[in-house]
Amino acid sequence: MRYDPSFYDGAAVHYRYGRPAYSPRLEALLAEELSLDGSGRLLDVGCGPGILTVRLAHLFEGAVGLDPDPAMIAEGRRAAREQDIANITWIQARAEDLPAVAPGPYRLVTFGQSFYWTDEVRVAEAVYDMVEPGGALVLAGHQAEGRAVPPSPGPPRIPHDEIEELVRKYLGPTRRAGQSTAPVQALSLQDAVASTRFGAPRVIFAAGIPDLMRDIESVVSGYFSMSYAAPHLFGDRVEEFADEVRELLRQRSPEGVFWDWPGDTEVMLARK
Ligand SMILES: C[S@@+](CC[C@H](N)C(=O)[O-])C[C@H]1O[C@@H](n2cnc3c(N)ncnc32)[C@H](O)[C@@H]1O
Repeated sequence: MRYDPSFYDGAAVHYRYGRPAYSPRLEALLAEELSLDGSGRLLDVGCGPGILTVRLAHLFEGAVGLDPDPAMIAEGRRAAREQDIANITWIQARAEDLPAVAPGPYRLVTFGQSFYWTDEVRVAEAVYDMVEPGGALVLAGHQAEGRAVPPSPGPPRIPHDEIEELVRKYLGPTRRAGQSTAPVQALSLQDAVASTRFGAPRVIFAAGIPDLMRDIESVVSGYFSMSYAAPHLFGDRVEEFADEVRELLRQRSPEGVFWDWPGDTEVMLARK
């Protein structure tokens, strides 16, 4: 797929505030699975605002966060500075430019909800050559389908179906991405990795946060952080859209509090 610099135009500032966090067990799971001991290096590809980079950097001697979107990189840099994390190098580049832009070796290469944006098989093959023997490729994301839903902590769930309907009202029935429409995946992530020298990945789950609460503004930000509802797509109607979402949310929860259940964190792990 051809990279379009406007995919996440205006989204970066909404990302950390709007997106639900991965499982709090993620670091422990990876440390255990890969015997991480503070040595070796991490490469986080499609790092966005450094979500995995910042969370995992302490498990390595050094980490690299790579993303083609300069605003995402700026947010990652800011988060690392705020948390006094000094062992991350930030690189503005596409996964398809690997290995030249961030040569190995790496103990771990991660893609958090970003592998599907890349030329998957070609990129995974390049990554294979960059990973040290015994190292791994990890794809991380939320997975609600097929996972047990925890008991409700009380507040209503985010009315995603109704908000999606509003997105369609403003942007039309076909999912947008940058100047065009959203990519169609030819292979599942699992099959794409399985077709490379890594072979079939193991799928492991880390329990999601069962009682994640979100306020109205963070739900709005969550939508603006998505490529298919990024602020630039709405043009001069962006505030009109946001106000309509806020109004809908106030109707569904007069207290303005919602329960978010994005699911457990799915980790696809492939060893070299
Ligand atoms: C959904 S965000 C994921 C951010 C973060 N990794 C996380 O786990 O939340 C997807 C990111 O992939 C990046 N991206 C898009 N195309 C890419 C490519 N060809 N190579 C590397 N990253 C890409 C986008 O700029 C965006 O920051």
